Amino acid sequence: MTYNINNKIILVTGANRGIGKALVESFIEHGATKVYAAVRKLENAAPLVEKYGDQVVSIQIDLADPQSIFSAAETAKDVQVVVNNAGIYTNSTPLSDNAIAALESEMKINVYGLIHMAQAFAPVLKANGGGVFAQLNSVVSMKTFSNCATYCASKAAAYSITQALRELLSEQGTIVLSVHPGPIATDMGDAAGLTEIAEPPTLVAEGIIKALEAGDFHVFPDSMAKQIGAAYQSFAANIIEANMSEG
Ligand SMILES: NC(=O)c1ccc[n+]([C@@H]2O[C@H](COP(=O)([O-])OP(=O)(O)OC[C@H]3O[C@@H](n4cnc5c(N)ncnc54)[C@H](OP(=O)(O)O)[C@@H]3O)[C@@H](O)[C@H]2O)c1
Repeated sequence: MTYNINNKIILVTGANRGIGKALVESFIEHGATKVYAAVRKLENAAPLVEKYGDQVVSIQIDLADPQSIFSAAETAKDVQVVVNNAGIYTNSTPLSDNAIAALESEMKINVYGLIHMAQAFAPVLKANGGGVFAQLNSVVSMKTFSNCATYCASKAAAYSITQALRELLSEQGTIVLSVHPGPIATDMGDAAGLTEIAEPPTLVAEGIIKALEAGDFHVFPDSMAKQIGAAYQSFAANIIEANMSEG
């Protein structure tokens, strides 16, 4: 199934900075009618609202607070495309003192947050004709880097949930996208020590728009991601995207 974001109503979590902010700006430039900028603190969306006027509507979502997610779904009843972009990152190996605490907090935001977003917004997307649910995963969903292994584990779990959503939401006509960036120039990219090799966050927005137009499930938007995506292509096509029964 192919999809064009022109004239669509979109919601982006973690919209105030980094990849989320670039997504809001690109979607508007590509013809979205309205973008809900979902942020933890409403005042953090003020610069986007100032810049784009009533094309950007701020809405409160804290992925640690399921109530905020379900309330937002009550408010944003007209949304057609949901991009769950917000996420957290910790430098932690399995041997670090903070390994369990890091993994717990990363699971809470990066995985339980995704599950709550899907539970809250699937009925809204269904009511609006199907639409799109896109999840910001990572190249580390496929390849673990030991210095941030707990983050990688949370992104692998999020990818697993995204695959289930692809199958389940196809029944209501909702397209699911799994987005797998490599190093992107944001605060998180800096925290991960990737500043030197990071590429612009606009690439992620362009990757999502192109994947929707092409009908792709996986999105590999930047140079490192494309390299990993090329090596992964056969497994993705023959195993991940194939219709297989587990029985
Ligand atoms: N940068 C990379 O190299 C890279 C690569 C692959 C995948 N990703 C993924 O892409 C997504 C965006 O990353 P980024 O680089 O833009 O990160 P970032 O610069 O650290 O920005 C993170 C965004 O998520 C929000 N956020 C954090 N915790 C939240 C919570 N509990 N509830 C709601 N929002 C929350 C932040 O809001 P506040 O301002 O309120 O903290 C901020 O808007 C993440 O899922 C990340 O894992 C990033």
